[in-house]
Amino acid sequence: MTERTATPATSAIDPAQYREVMGHYPTGVTVVTGTSPDGDPIGMVVGTFTAVSLDPPLVAFMPTTTSGTYSLMRDSAAYCINVLAHDQLDLCRFMAVPRPGKFDDVAWSPSDHGAPVLHDAVAHIHCKPHDVVTAGDHYIVLCEVQAMQVNRPTTPLLFFQGGYGGFNTRGMTAKGDADLIEAVRLAEVARPQAQRVARLLGCEAAVLVAANDHELTVAVTAYGGSAEVLEPLGVRVPLMPPLGEAYVAWTDDAAVEAWLARGSSQDPEVVDKYRRRLQAVRSRGFSLSRQREDDHPRYSDLKDAMREYAGGDLTPARERAVRNVIAASSPFFETIDIEDGESYDLGAIVVPVLAPDGRVALCLRASQLPPRASASVVREWVDTLKQAAEDIAEKLDEGNRSAYTSYLQAMPGDFMM
Ligand SMILES: Cc1cc2nc3c(=O)[nH]c(=O)nc-3n(C[C@H](O)[C@H](O)[C@H](O)COP(=O)(O)O)c2cc1C
Repeated sequence: MTERTATPATSAIDPAQYREVMGHYPTGVTVVTGTSPDGDPIGMVVGTFTAVSLDPPLVAFMPTTTSGTYSLMRDSAAYCINVLAHDQLDLCRFMAVPRPGKFDDVAWSPSDHGAPVLHDAVAHIHCKPHDVVTAGDHYIVLCEVQAMQVNRPTTPLLFFQGGYGGFNTRGMTAKGDADLIEAVRLAEVARPQAQRVARLLGCEAAVLVAANDHELTVAVTAYGGSAEVLEPLGVRVPLMPPLGEAYVAWTDDAAVEAWLARGSSQDPEVVDKYRRRLQAVRSRGFSLSRQREDDHPRYSDLKDAMREYAGGDLTPARERAVRNVIAASSPFFETIDIEDGESYDLGAIVVPVLAPDGRVALCLRASQLPPRASASVVREWVDTLKQAAEDIAEKLDEGNRSAYTSYLQAMPGDFMM
């Protein structure tokens, strides 16, 4: 390891301005761990960690020249850069305080690479010091990467303007739950019908309402037969092909185009296929999915992807993976004729509830349906759902208009419906 100095001549930049401007640039948060001269684990919070070179693999971090913790670990033969996750703010605060014995109270393990690893960090980057450059009031500690792995592929903790936050991809950013109150109130109008459907069909019945211009949210659920409570209320369903047909089929052209644009394939044939499906859904009055486990992806892969989406905190890489599974699940939603003599394993049947103004106010979805249903049973289910949707629509027209009006007012002006 070499040590050099790279301190330029003094500059006219005021320190307050430097902090103010640099504060507009976010950083991730890492804990750099190493070993003290006594052989004890030691670590400090570092926002100045950065990738430097791919070939050879180099990274760097920048401790202040006055850092007591760094002075204790500067002779460490190895470091581990622990990239903190969005839910490790307490750990960050704890590790940022200069106090001995910090590792008595955090979850960590020794590592073959020489520096302690913190549990539940997003990634561990094992390295050994290569070069230290004194740069003004900081050191640039250049390190050679020995080994590295993603430990937990979740979103990282971010530091920005003195505060902490998390990462949201633009495509999947959801509105805050507080904004959903009116949507939930609207869905409550449909609870008795959802309960009736669940009882009659022996299934899970859910009332879905648009949470924003690209997601529906499950606002009411009811269970009948052997249906189990698998998902909490508030679960989001992305409006992207092939999901959300029963909602989008009744929206205006702009909303349909926005839905199609969210599809992963813009191949004209694929887009055309979705347009035809929307027409079919609209003329039939319902959408339907079939469970198939023999294909790739399997229906259970779609369910897993939707569960992962609903769990939130998706990294862009996981978001792409989830979107790909959803897009590839298109065959489950193919328009089929319900034919006598056939039996059907359905994933879900969804019917829209039309508001007095003709727009879709809610969707009623039956899932966890009994398997191998005959054609006549499937027709009965569809009729029961359509009747329930009409009953809910009547309720919206009668005493519950205000629930719908308040919901529309709570939604942003450019809302898609
Ligand atoms: C979000 C965050 C980022 C930080 N980044 C750095 C950094 O890049 N370099 C540094 O020397 N200290 C940084 N610190 C401060 C040290 O983690 C911490 O205060 C220090 O390790 C304890 O004091 P000591 O270094 O004097 O022992 C950061 C603290 C926080 C909370």
